[in-house]
This record gives sequence, structure tokens and C-alpha cells, in this order.
Amino acid sequence: MYDIRIAPSILSADFSKLGEEVTAIDKAGADYIHIDVMDGHFVPNLTFGAPVVKAIRKSTDKVFDVHLMISPVDSLIDDFVDAGSDIITAHIESGPHLHRTLQHIKAKGVKAGVSLNPHTPIESIKHVMDMVDLILIMTVNPGFGGQSFIPLLDKIAKARQMINDCGRNIDLEVDGGINFKTARQVIAAGANVLVAGTAVFKDGLDGYAKNIASLRG
Ligand code: DX5
Ligand code: ZN
Repeated sequence: MYDIRIAPSILSADFSKLGEEVTAIDKAGADYIHIDVMDGHFVPNLTFGAPVVKAIRKSTDKVFDVHLMISPVDSLIDDFVDAGSDIITAHIESGPHLHRTLQHIKAKGVKAGVSLNPHTPIESIKHVMDMVDLILIMTVNPGFGGQSFIPLLDKIAKARQMINDCGRNIDLEVDGGINFKTARQVIAAGANVLVAGTAVFKDGLDGYAKNIASLRG
């Protein structure tokens, strides 16, 4: 069993008071702050860009785990680094040059992640295992919170095996449809970072700490 980290997705927060929401999940025990950036092109929804990330940087010292669902991605990496990202994750499906994208992120001095949509085989990242600090397995089609979990447990287990085989310290993060039941399943399959939007925010402010603790198990 691994040290389990919970990464609440602020996609489910109240955007009218985003800074306060980020402080609240920090105090409630979040390990990472998961920030879903969507462009209305790579995914069919729009959220926010680097200026919003910069604005909420003042609200917490926790790790900013920035999930870029944008295409093209390379031209915006510097903005997200400058805004205070700690981990920047790009999708393998968002462009033809994943290796170059990861090189760019690493060269800026932050951690580099790669995300895979549900249909993308885990083997497709085997030649970048020496570069990544985080693998993000999508268990919904990206774009919206509140969707049902797609049970890709064999894919998660295979990713864990690839991480163990390469011997590097790589986070294995799962995103989409994580609730108290599916959390147990993905942890058993080898995940160590759980993204959760609905499951953290569903009960309002008073529920954040309880929900984060329940997800951790
Ligand atoms: C989906 C996002 C997720 C989403 C998770 O595209 O990447 O982070 O906010 O939301 P829930 O936990 O509600 O499935
Ligand atoms: Zn996400």
C-alpha cells in the first residue's frame, strides 16, 4: 500500500469565491489542489487560464496539480509555470509531440505529468517513463465533473507495474468518478493520488474534511 494523497478538483468548487474554497480544502486536509484547465477545443468545456491560477496561488501553499486539457499545449506552459504550478500534466492525445512537451515542462523546473484518456493504451507512454513525475489515468472522458467511473482497473494495475519496473518515484493519479467506493478499488489497483471533485464538495463547506478523510480510507 502506498501513501495516499487526495487532490480535490476545484472544478466542483464555488467559482464565485474560489480563493476561499482553495483555503478551505487546504485546511480540510487536501494534499494537492487539482486544477482543471479546459479549452473548449480539446474538451467540450471551458474553465479558466493562468491568471486564475496565479490569483488563487495566494490562498494556499499546497501543491498545485495543474491538469491541462488544452490543445495545443506547448505555447501556454510558461504561463502556467509563472502562475505558480508545481506539477503540470499534459494529455498524450493533445498533440503529436509529447516528448517535446515533457522536455519543456521539465526544463522550466516543475514536475511533469502525462494524462491518458480512457481509450489510450497505457503502453503508449512506455518511452517517456524516464521523464514523467506523474501518470494521470482518466476514468471518465475529460470535460466535466460528476460523471460515472469507468472501471479501468487493469490499466491502473499495469501502470503501477510499469512504475515499479522502472524504479522511479512516479505518482499514479486517477481522475474521474472517484467516490468512497471507487477510491478503494483504484487504491487496491495501485493508485496513490486520487482526484475528487463531486465527492469532496458535495456536502458544502462542513463536509470537506470528512469527505477527504473518507476518501483516504
Ligand atoms: C474531468 C476533470 C476531473 C473532474 C473530476 O475532466 O479532469 O478532475 O473535475 O470530477 P468528479 O470527481 O466529479 O468526477
Ligand atoms: Zn482533472
